[in-house]
Amino acid sequence: MEELLLEVKSLRKNYNGFEALKGISFEVKKGEIFGLLGTNGAGKTTTIKIIAGVIPPTSGEVRIAGEPITKNPIKIKSQIGYVPQDISVIPNLSAYENLRLIGKLYGVSKDRIFHMLKAIDLVDRKDSLVQTFSGGMIRKLEIAMAMMHEPKLLLLDEPSVGLDPNAKLSIWNFLKSKKQEMAILITTHDMNEAERLCDKIAIMKKGQIIAKGTLEELRDMIGNKNASLEEIFIQLTGESLEDNSQDIKSIRKTRNIVKRLS
Ligand SMILES: Nc1ncnc2c1ncn2[C@@H]1O[C@H](COP(=O)(O)OP(=O)(O)OP(=O)(O)O)[C@@H](O)[C@H]1O
Ligand SMILES: [Mg+2]
Repeated sequence: MEELLLEVKSLRKNYNGFEALKGISFEVKKGEIFGLLGTNGAGKTTTIKIIAGVIPPTSGEVRIAGEPITKNPIKIKSQIGYVPQDISVIPNLSAYENLRLIGKLYGVSKDRIFHMLKAIDLVDRKDSLVQTFSGGMIRKLEIAMAMMHEPKLLLLDEPSVGLDPNAKLSIWNFLKSKKQEMAILITTHDMNEAERLCDKIAIMKKGQIIAKGTLEELRDMIGNKNASLEEIFIQLTGESLEDNSQDIKSIRKTRNIVKRLS
């Protein structure tokens, strides 16, 4: 039977009267990579932060493996791995030390550190300081840290933003190789990433999900069997991610990522 690991129902979030989420609902099953796709400010990070228990919703419900996140927050946290949009490694520690720190917090054995180092192909660099790593190596280490305690649900806020095509591919392949063990939720505004990595996609606009499904299902919605995700997105939202990518927030974000990794 398919295991429903994440259920989001009628989720709303108001920031001082501003409605960032206007009642969104979706589900993610074990073995699935689900993508929240939308332009800057659509509400992707707000959604993932609520699911991770970092901020509370204004109303609505989140269930992880069938249990509401409010019921037993400590147990729920042990079932989630979360990689935020901003950096989450300690740059002046080595890869091994970063994993060891997380391992201690979760009470995970040292064997698991080597297992994860191997999985992300960093055994040879395990003693190098993270500040000497490339962007792709850092992002993979962050994902490995989030997976140390074998969570049921992995939450990744823009896993490959600012990375070169090879580094992106390496992260996508890594996630695909691990997805059978859990449910993965990612946010992205990268069409290519959503199309190549995600089994299902929810298109977000101004705090709402305006369409969701597999690429095939989204194609059916616009009645074009050959449409690219970009064509679907433009037709359904009236927005272009390309136009939006040059706004000040986006430029600042990319610069911050470049700065943090260099
Ligand atoms: N702490 C906050 N206080 C007030 N408004 C906020 C806060 N956090 C987010 N917002 C607003 O809520 C909306 C959704 O923001 P959010 O960060 O969730 O979007 P996003 O889809 O992740 O965007 P991006 O692609 O830029 O990361 C935006 O209009 C944002 O300005
Ligand atoms: Mg965001």
